[in-house]
Amino acid sequence: MSSYFVTGVSRGIGFEFLRQLSSDPAKTVIGLVRNKPATDAKVAALNRTNIHILEGDLTDYESLKRAASATSKITGGSLDYLIANAASIPLWSYFDGMGALGSKDPVALEKDLLDAYKTNIIGNVHLFNLFLPLILKGEKKKVIAISSGMADIELITKYDLEIGGPYAVSKAGANAVVAKYSAEYAKDGVLFISICPGVVDTGNSGTLTEEQLQKIGVMMGKFAQYAPNFKGPATPEESVKALISVYEKASVAGGDGGAFVSHFGNKQWL
Ligand SMILES: NC(=O)c1ccc[n+]([C@@H]2O[C@H](COP(=O)([O-])OP(=O)(O)OC[C@H]3O[C@@H](n4cnc5c(N)ncnc54)[C@H](OP(=O)(O)O)[C@@H]3O)[C@@H](O)[C@H]2O)c1
Repeated sequence: MSSYFVTGVSRGIGFEFLRQLSSDPAKTVIGLVRNKPATDAKVAALNRTNIHILEGDLTDYESLKRAASATSKITGGSLDYLIANAASIPLWSYFDGMGALGSKDPVALEKDLLDAYKTNIIGNVHLFNLFLPLILKGEKKKVIAISSGMADIELITKYDLEIGGPYAVSKAGANAVVAKYSAEYAKDGVLFISICPGVVDTGNSGTLTEEQLQKIGVMMGKFAQYAPNFKGPATPEESVKALISVYEKASVAGGDGGAFVSHFGNKQWL
C-alpha cells in the first residue's frame, strides 16, 4: 500500500517511473506535470486506476502547494516516497564550455544559469518543504532526487567534460540541497539521496542539430574512455529498474543519507 509522488511524469524517465510503479495495483502513484491533458491521454492508455495526475510547475510555489494538498487528500495525509525527477535541462548552453558561451552571449548564459538554478535547486527546495509533512507521516520516508554524473567534479576534471555547464552546476547544487536535508532530517528517519540514472535514451536526441549531435558524440567518446564497457544509452525501463533497486536498498541506518550515487549504487557513473 505504498504511496509515491513523482515529478516530471509527462515523458522520459518520469513517465517510466509512473508506468513501472503503477504496475502494482497496491501502490498509489501520483505524478506532477505541467500539462495535465497531454499526460492524462498517455495515462489513459495504461488503463490503471491507481495513477493520479496533478498539475504543477517547479517554478511556481503556489502550484506545488496545491499539489501537496491534493496529494494529502488522495493518500490520507501521508507519503512514502517523493521522487524529484523533473529537471530543467537548458539546451542552448548544453553544447559548449562556459568560457565559449560567455564570449558568444553572456546574457543567454546568465539566463540558462538562472533557469537551471530556479527549477533544479529552488524548485526542489520548495518541493521538499511542502511534501516533508506528508513524508514524515509515511512509513518508508524516502526522498529521492534524480541527479546526474555530469555534476561529479572528479569526472568533469579527469575527462574534461566542459559541456552542459549550467545544467551540471545546478545538479551539483541540488546534490548539496539533498545532503543539507539529510543532515536536518536523518534524525527523523527520512532518507534523502541523489541518484544518477546513467545515460538514458529518452528520445530527446531527435531534435538536435548535426553540430549538437557531433558534440554529444565527443562526450560519448570520453564516456567510452571512462568506462570501456559502456555500450551507449540504456532504455528508460532498464534505468528505472536500476534506480528503484538502488533506493530500495538505501537506508539512513546503512549510512546512505545525503549520498550522491549512480544507478549502480556507487560512484561508477557508467
Ligand atoms: N536522460 C538521461 O540520460 C539523464 C542522464 C542524467 C540525469 N538525468 C536526469 O533524469 C531526470 C529525468 O530526465 P529525462 O531524460 O527523463 O528528461 P526529459 O525527458 O527532458 O523530461 C524532463 C521532465 O521534467 C519536466 N519539467 C521540466 N521543467 C519542469 C518544471 N519547471 N516543473 C515541472 N516539471 C518540469 C518535464 O515536463 P514537460 O514535459 O512539461 O517539459 C519532463 O516531464 C532529470 O532530472 C535529468 O536531469 C537524465
